[in-house]
Amino acid sequence: MPILNVELGSRSYPIHIGSGLLGHGLAKFPVKRVAIITNEAVAPLYLERLLASFEKIGAGGTAIILPDGEAHKNWDSLQIIYDRLLAEKCDRSTAIVALGGGVVGDLAGFAAATYQRGVPFIQVPTTLLSQVDSSVGGKTGINHPRGKNMIGAFWQPRLVLADTDTLNTLPDRELSAGLAEVIKYGLIRDLPFLEWLEANIDRLVSRDAAALSYAIERSCRNKAEVVAGDELETAAEGGRALLNLGHTFGHAIETGVGYGTWLHGEAVAAGMVMAADLSQRLGWLAVSDVERVRELLIKARLPISGAKLGSERYLELMSHDKKVIAGRLRLVLLKRLGEAVTWPAATPEQMRATIEQCCAD
Ligand code: NAD
Ligand code: GLY
Repeated sequence: MPILNVELGSRSYPIHIGSGLLGHGLAKFPVKRVAIITNEAVAPLYLERLLASFEKIGAGGTAIILPDGEAHKNWDSLQIIYDRLLAEKCDRSTAIVALGGGVVGDLAGFAAATYQRGVPFIQVPTTLLSQVDSSVGGKTGINHPRGKNMIGAFWQPRLVLADTDTLNTLPDRELSAGLAEVIKYGLIRDLPFLEWLEANIDRLVSRDAAALSYAIERSCRNKAEVVAGDELETAAEGGRALLNLGHTFGHAIETGVGYGTWLHGEAVAAGMVMAADLSQRLGWLAVSDVERVRELLIKARLPISGAKLGSERYLELMSHDKKVIAGRLRLVLLKRLGEAVTWPAATPEQMRATIEQCCAD
C-alpha cells in the first residue's frame, strides 16, 4: 500500500492510500480523543467502522453529522460544529477528523484551524476528488454567497487516510467529478500521466481498482510536490496557483448558478476547456491540443461547455478570484500540454471571446 509524504518540515505528514484502511489504517496514530465530522450521506456508510478503528487504538470518539452538500459549506455548518465541540468539552488535545468528501474536509479543516486557535486534524477522504486533491495540502474554508472558498485558512492535517474501498459506494457523477482534478495534474505538470490517462480513461470510468489506485497515488504525488514547494501559494509566478487550472472559470460557474447545482469537478472540467481555449488564442496550444483536452473530458463523462451566465457576469464573478493581485487577475493557462503558467496579461476581450466560444452550446 503506498504511503506518500508531504514534506513540510516539522508539519510533514503521510498520505496512506489503499484498500481497507478505514478498518486498520490507524495502527500507530497517537490520539486519545477524536471528534469525527461527517455528513448525513456518509455517516450511515462509514462512521461506525471509523469509530471502531479509533476505539481499537484507545481513542474515544464523538460524531458531528452535518447536512450534505456544497450549499452547506457555510457559517451555519461551522456553527453546528463549534456548538458541539464546546458542548462535548473538546479541548486542544481532541483531534478533529473529516470523514467525507471535499465539503466535509474543507469545513472540518477550518473548524480545526480555528477551534481554540487550532487543534490536530486528520483527513479521511471518501470521494475520488477528496482523495486526489482536497484532503492534501491544508486549504480549508467555506463559501461566501459572493464567491467560492472566500473565507478560510491554511491548516495541514497530521494524517491523510484514503481508503479506496469507499469509492465503491460513490455515485458515477461524483467519480467523474473527481476525474476532472486527476486530469488537471496531467495537464499542468505531468505529460506522461496525461498520456496514461488518455490510454486508461475507460478503465477509470468503469472503476478498475488498479487503475484508480494508480491514478490516486500519482495525483497525490503531484499535489504533494507542488504543496511542498509553495505551501501558502505565495510564489510570484507558477507555484501552487497552478493547481487552480480551470478554477477561476469554474468557481464563477459554481457561484453563478448557485452552490451545489454544478459539482465542483464538473465546473473545473468546463473551466479547463476555457483555459485551454484561451491558451490557444494566445498561440500556445494548437487547436488539436484543445481537442485532446475536450476528448479526454468527454470520455470521463464531464461537461466541456460552461454555464450560460453571460460574459459580463463571468468577468464580475472572476474579479473576486483569490489570484487577483492589485486588481489584476492571474489566470492559470497552458503553455503546452503538461506545462501550466500563471498569466496576468489576458485582456477582457480575450476572456470574453473564450467565454462566448465555450459557453455557447
Ligand atoms: P462532496 O464533499 O460534496 O461529496 C460529493 C457527494 O458524495 C456528497 O453528496 C457526499 O456526501 C457524497 N459522498 C462522499 N463520499 C461518499 C462515498 N464514499 N459514497 C457515497 N457518497 C459519498 O464533494 P467533493 O467533490 O468531494 O468535494 C468538493 C469540494 O471540495 C468543493 O467544495 C471544493 O471547493 C472543495 N475542494 C477543496 C480543495 C482543497 O484543496 N481544500 C481542493 C479541491 C476541491
Ligand atoms: N486545489 C488547489 C490547491 O490545493 O491549491
